[in-house]
Amino acid sequence: MLSYQHAYHAGNYADVLKHVVLVQVLAYLKQKDKPICYIDTHAGQGDYRLDGSEAQKNQEFIGGIGALWERDDLPKSVDDYVQLVKQFNHTSQLSHYPGSPLIAAQLLTTKDRLFLYELHTAEARRLEDAVKRDKRSKTFRADGLKDSFGLLPPKENRGLILIDPSYEMKTDYHDVVDTLKEMHKRFATGCYLLWYPVVARKRNQYMERALRASGIRNIQLFELGIQPDNDDFGMTACGMIAINPPWTLLADMQKVLPWLTDTLGQQQGHYRAEQLVDE
Ligand SMILES: C[S@@+](CC[C@H](N)C(=O)[O-])C[C@H]1O[C@@H](n2cnc3c(N)ncnc32)[C@H](O)[C@@H]1O
Repeated sequence: MLSYQHAYHAGNYADVLKHVVLVQVLAYLKQKDKPICYIDTHAGQGDYRLDGSEAQKNQEFIGGIGALWERDDLPKSVDDYVQLVKQFNHTSQLSHYPGSPLIAAQLLTTKDRLFLYELHTAEARRLEDAVKRDKRSKTFRADGLKDSFGLLPPKENRGLILIDPSYEMKTDYHDVVDTLKEMHKRFATGCYLLWYPVVARKRNQYMERALRASGIRNIQLFELGIQPDNDDFGMTACGMIAINPPWTLLADMQKVLPWLTDTLGQQQGHYRAEQLVDE
């Protein structure tokens, strides 16, 4: 039974980190005029209303995209992301937030294909609606962790796979590593992005150990913390793991993460930007 709904969290600091990285990776991949296959294993509903009751409940977006919206001193990667979000808002008022499927669709070209998985029935219906006019996008009401294996390797032989679970179950930390190992076996040259929350640090430590021992090479990790680790607080930090990232990503995130930490961090913000496993 799935209870997580991303509409309550859309545009928060976790989305900022995830989508800044996503925008940079897609922009890099699209420098080459060759088709790519984008797979989103946990797509969500695609289009979020920040003036709707869910987003307004805790107004998490205020500590994320809201804190960047009117600034004119953004580092380039953050500016690329904010400019993209502005394309979904027709006035200067921040009222819409694009989820990962719409961000990807905006940056991809007519040659590319998008495969979007969403298991929650109501979310899947909204996603279908959000992408219904986009002939490149195919949606599945299915388990993105299991059912997307069959797409690998894609015929384009170039691909980005975003894995963005809600981590409602503790076993998710194990399952994502098993999924990555299986996907990598099928498509070793693909680029993979895995989002994770820091709620209880030992689960993240397990995940990092398992990835280091997986045999997969060229893994980077980017983490943004708004509070010191605290197992009783909820999500104090979040991160993105990147496998086969663009060679420019690490240096870029090493510049951007201190800025994001100062701007979005609450007390004792912290960050990591490191090569977890060498090439
Ligand atoms: C964090 S949200 C996704 C947000 C989206 N990737 C974005 O960046 O805009 C996670 C979504 O995964 C869905 N979900 C949970 N388990 C799933 C599974 N096994 N397969 C596909 N979707 C799943 C949830 O219903 C939820 O909408």
